[in-house]
Amino acid sequence: SATKSYRIASIPGDGIGPEVVSATIQVVEKLAKTLGTFDIEFDHIPWGTAYYKETGKYVSEDCLDTLRKYDAGLFGAVGAPDVPDHISLWGLLLALRGPLQLYANVRPVKTFPGTKCPLNTATKGIDWMLVRENSEGEYAGQGGRSHVGQPWEAATEVAIFTRHAIERIMRFAFETAQSRPRKLLTVVTKSNSMRNGLVLWDEIAASVAKDFPDVTWDKMLVDAMTVRMVGKPDSIDTIVGTNLHMDILSDLAAALAGSIGVAPSSNLDPTRKNPSLFEPVHGSAFDITGKGVANPVATFWSAAEMLIWLGEKDAAAKLMSCVENVCSAGILTPDLGGTSNTQGVVDAVCAEIEKLI
Ligand code: NAI
Ligand code: MG
Repeated sequence: SATKSYRIASIPGDGIGPEVVSATIQVVEKLAKTLGTFDIEFDHIPWGTAYYKETGKYVSEDCLDTLRKYDAGLFGAVGAPDVPDHISLWGLLLALRGPLQLYANVRPVKTFPGTKCPLNTATKGIDWMLVRENSEGEYAGQGGRSHVGQPWEAATEVAIFTRHAIERIMRFAFETAQSRPRKLLTVVTKSNSMRNGLVLWDEIAASVAKDFPDVTWDKMLVDAMTVRMVGKPDSIDTIVGTNLHMDILSDLAAALAGSIGVAPSSNLDPTRKNPSLFEPVHGSAFDITGKGVANPVATFWSAAEMLIWLGEKDAAAKLMSCVENVCSAGILTPDLGGTSNTQGVVDAVCAEIEKLI
């Protein structure tokens, strides 16, 4: 059969973004060349803070059409010390997620070889799948400021919840839970104090659940969920929640699993009308930028998720086994207690890939 060929938009962005994305391109190109079962080509897209300082915008005018020419995007991070974070985040990431309707943000967390789960309550470390609604809630852009600068200044941040968006993310979450061995889903809300939008979440969860009789599900309030994540981690498998709640819970989850330096994420358009975007959970990490020590594993894993999404499940599994071997061998960056630098990890993973044939 003809070799499949993929075109990927590489958007390294800011800070350590370019370091971890270039590390990942080396590894994925090596994988494709070694296996010979698919071709992959990365095009560099220069969006980010340097682009903003030059043009006044974080992305190009035709950014959505630009991305639509690709099968997927690999994104690094956005954010710079001298630009307010809400400008950079809305300028780049949120300018893409909403308009491309990348409505499912999927964040697997597991205690990775080489990382240590800080919880003594977890019998075998952590293995969860977090599903974040990625298109609305507090991130819909509703709100404003009045009487700016006055002592009586007022600001609103209005959360938007629609039946359409809740239902599609709920269906996606039930399907995700169903695809995992434990078939166990926890729906997180705050429907005691938030009596409109989050009551709608609960209602839709109950109605979608009827279509998934083989999935066991329960509901948690977000505050109680933090306690459960720390106290009874073994009782959790798949979690779904709002954009804001899951933003927070997914950082907690990454920390509980061992490190943010290995945590991947996918921004998916499950309808496949638009290309999906894959990125590490972490940000631009100013404190280590340019030192060559950024942990590339979160981006490797994000690229593996991208390969799965593109249909290269086998190649993705092979990539992850190479990365796990390298981590198990103790070739780790300083955030995981190791002494390797980014390129050292890249070289070790490439050496593992060579052993695949
Ligand atoms: P951060 O994730 O950039 O860094 C938090 C801490 O984790 C730092 O000590 C950093 O050195 C460490 N760290 C993160 N990734 C690492 C890696 N791969 N290897 C080793 N250590 C790593 O979060 P922070 O400091 O809150 O934000 C910095 C900037 O990044 C801000 O401008 C923020 O808005 C932006 N940001 C962007 C995100 C994105 O592009 N998706 C996500 C989170 C933050
Ligand atoms: Mg976050």
